[in-house]
Amino acid sequence: MSPEHDAPVIPDVTRRQFLAAAGGAALAAALVSLPRLSQAAAPHVLPPLPYAEDALAPVISANTLGFHYGKHHKAYVDNLNKLITGTEYADLPLEKIVAEVAGKPDKIAIFNNAAQAWNHTFLWRSLRPPGGGAPPAALQAKIEAAFGSLEACKKELTAAATTQFGSGWAWLVRDGDRLKVVKTGNADLPLTATMKPLLTIDVWEHAYYLDYQNRRADYVAAVLDKLVNWEFALENLG
Ligand code: FE2
Repeated sequence: MSPEHDAPVIPDVTRRQFLAAAGGAALAAALVSLPRLSQAAAPHVLPPLPYAEDALAPVISANTLGFHYGKHHKAYVDNLNKLITGTEYADLPLEKIVAEVAGKPDKIAIFNNAAQAWNHTFLWRSLRPPGGGAPPAALQAKIEAAFGSLEACKKELTAAATTQFGSGWAWLVRDGDRLKVVKTGNADLPLTATMKPLLTIDVWEHAYYLDYQNRRADYVAAVLDKLVNWEFALENLG
């Protein structure tokens, strides 16, 4: 059997699926399932990094993290504040803005900046120095139930992260009572009635190109082995 046949098929969660799931009560459920990361309302602020800019080196250099957090993440937050000033979204928490504008073509700029602001705050907490290693026992049990082993789970996360075409994200999620790996493109996130994000890996080129150039697989392997924050995933599991 060729390696291609061995590769797990990773679901690609799109805003179309979000819309299909997000009517009425389902939307309320989706809002409940998205971990709350932000303060109550605008102006939205760039949350402090949970560690120093050089704390993830050598896997992610201070140079990369400085640009990623201080330029890219900051720009999403700043742009969001400009876009929502004087609108119906001005006084909503970030998670609610994301859910309200998802799938609305005339609100795509607000969605992209709100979702990217949320995704990056979630990303920083998905990493820690030192991370990787063995998950806490309660999470390990859920991982083994869903994937068979930690290695199989990491293999699926790697496949999601390396097969995402262009910019996007790989995610470990709880879907109902079961863990699953999914990937999303651009600013999209697994915001559906049943999925709750547990952790994420950013595969936009700005996340790794200064350190790894085109070697996305090396970046993903190093993040999974040395930085991934299984404790944060367990917190979100509850
Ligand atoms: Fe990013």
